[in-house]
Amino acid sequence: MSFDGKIALVVGGTRGIGLEVSKKLIGAGATCYITGRNEVDGATAQRLLGHMCHFVKSDVTDQESIAELFRTIDSRHGRLDLAVNNAGVTTRRAPVVDLDMAEWKRVLEINLLGPLLLISHEIRLMAVHAGASIVNVSSCAGLLGVAAQSAYSTSKAALNMLTQVCALECAETMPGRHQIRVNAVCPGPTLGGMNSQERLRANPEATQHKIQVTAMKRFANPDEIADTILWLLSDSSSYVTGIVLPVDGGYSAGKF
Ligand SMILES: NC(=O)c1ccc[n+]([C@@H]2O[C@H](COP(=O)([O-])OP(=O)(O)OC[C@H]3O[C@@H](n4cnc5c(N)ncnc54)[C@H](OP(=O)(O)O)[C@@H]3O)[C@@H](O)[C@H]2O)c1
Repeated sequence: MSFDGKIALVVGGTRGIGLEVSKKLIGAGATCYITGRNEVDGATAQRLLGHMCHFVKSDVTDQESIAELFRTIDSRHGRLDLAVNNAGVTTRRAPVVDLDMAEWKRVLEINLLGPLLLISHEIRLMAVHAGASIVNVSSCAGLLGVAAQSAYSTSKAALNMLTQVCALECAETMPGRHQIRVNAVCPGPTLGGMNSQERLRANPEATQHKIQVTAMKRFANPDEIADTILWLLSDSSSYVTGIVLPVDGGYSAGKF
């Protein structure tokens, strides 16, 4: 799979799944912009990924920093071909009866309003060129409810619907505007990032539970999620838009 000459953006590309996607995109020839809030993580990722990687510090909840990110890409390249909206956060486990409204708003701002803002900028910069593709990184928690994770589950379910709406809005090539494909992946429990070794060791019961709820009885490796994202970014999926694709080892196939 070649992405030679393509300009890519991986929002939340400094760690975990986003870092893996960035690595593969650069390996396949793309110039890759990665973002995150933490400059140390950004610099570490940039060193690891080499000269085809550009780290831009930005926060998806900060409209001005997002506008600046797209001004930078526009002024350097005049276009964007591929975008992965991967930045996301989980939340402290708590039932709705113990509602923490500030925490709910924080999760929705990052996981839902963040991608909304990003997509609105991405569309403008991507529609100038044929073959553009956006992938939103959702979660299997947006397909089936997870108790005590109401904000996270709801934010990802809403992101799935946003993906479908944007896919419809961008599906046709019109005069002066190229089509953009918009899809989502829904990872199951994935190693690294939110499931770092320290977190898994600190919560052995939760770790066992996450393994048991998948049909395959294991975590995903981040590169298994990244491979699916790369397929959706590539021309190999040229007739695919508006899908919300579980990559979850059978988690959402049913209860067994
Ligand atoms: N790992 C899993 O098991 C799993 C399962 C299902 C779905 N997912 C989804 O997959 C995505 C990546 O998960 P991960 O486990 O790889 O996470 P991770 O290792 O924690 O990485 C998250 C990335 O997003 C960035 N980020 C977080 N908040 C941000 C903000 N406000 N503005 C800009 N960047 C921000 C982080 O950088 P900074 O912190 O420096 O900003 C980091 O680069 C998330 O959307 C998550 O919901 C993960």
